[in-house]
Amino acid sequence: MDAATLTADDRPAAPKAVLFDVYGTLLDVYSVGLRAEQMFPGAGERLARAWRDKQIEYSRLVSMSGRYRPFWQLTRDALQVCAAALKLPLDTAGEDSLMNEYRHLSAFPENRAVLQALAARGIRAGVLSNGDPDMLDVTLRSAGLIDLLDPILSVHQTRRYKTDPAAYALGPQALSLPAADILFVSSNCWDAIGATWHGYATLWVNRADAPMEQLGTAPTRVGRSLRDVLEFFQT
Ligand code: LAC
Repeated sequence: MDAATLTADDRPAAPKAVLFDVYGTLLDVYSVGLRAEQMFPGAGERLARAWRDKQIEYSRLVSMSGRYRPFWQLTRDALQVCAAALKLPLDTAGEDSLMNEYRHLSAFPENRAVLQALAARGIRAGVLSNGDPDMLDVTLRSAGLIDLLDPILSVHQTRRYKTDPAAYALGPQALSLPAADILFVSSNCWDAIGATWHGYATLWVNRADAPMEQLGTAPTRVGRSLRDVLEFFQT
């Protein structure tokens, strides 16, 4: 259901806190494509997309097999294998340069206003991310968002990646709230569904006009930008 079509009667009680996914939701992971395009004209976007997919694939593989590796390491591993698969001559300097871009991803333009609007309503807003703590600190600081986010939850302490229940359990633990009272927001449909399975209220921010994942469960709501978070708090 589109957030815009909801009537007041459809609205459940407002969530008591919000947790955002980071990569793809607050920060644009495809902004690395610009740098990749400078390095490999004509192949930048392909590399950026393959890199992101491989990073997530690796996160699931190591999680399922109990072979945790920090997200920064997985991200570097994924870059190497994707460059090789696309036959792009990525040397160490190029690899470091693209990894450095990952520390300085672009924030989506509406983020700040939405986080400020939540703060003005007294709603606690943090993140729950696969990123390891150092990565999250550097990237969210660089994007100018860190002061507006609390708590900053990394799955690192669980050594399990989303969609493992241990990862989603961090939210209710840190906020001392049942999952149903927390709104989890992600631009990754699979992540919004994973959080729904865990009992959160969820918003899938479908920025890319992607089809719904067919997993037998839908997020609570679907929106187009982070601004749709505020729909949950209208009286
Ligand atoms: C994250 C990835 C899934 O931030 O986007 O957790």
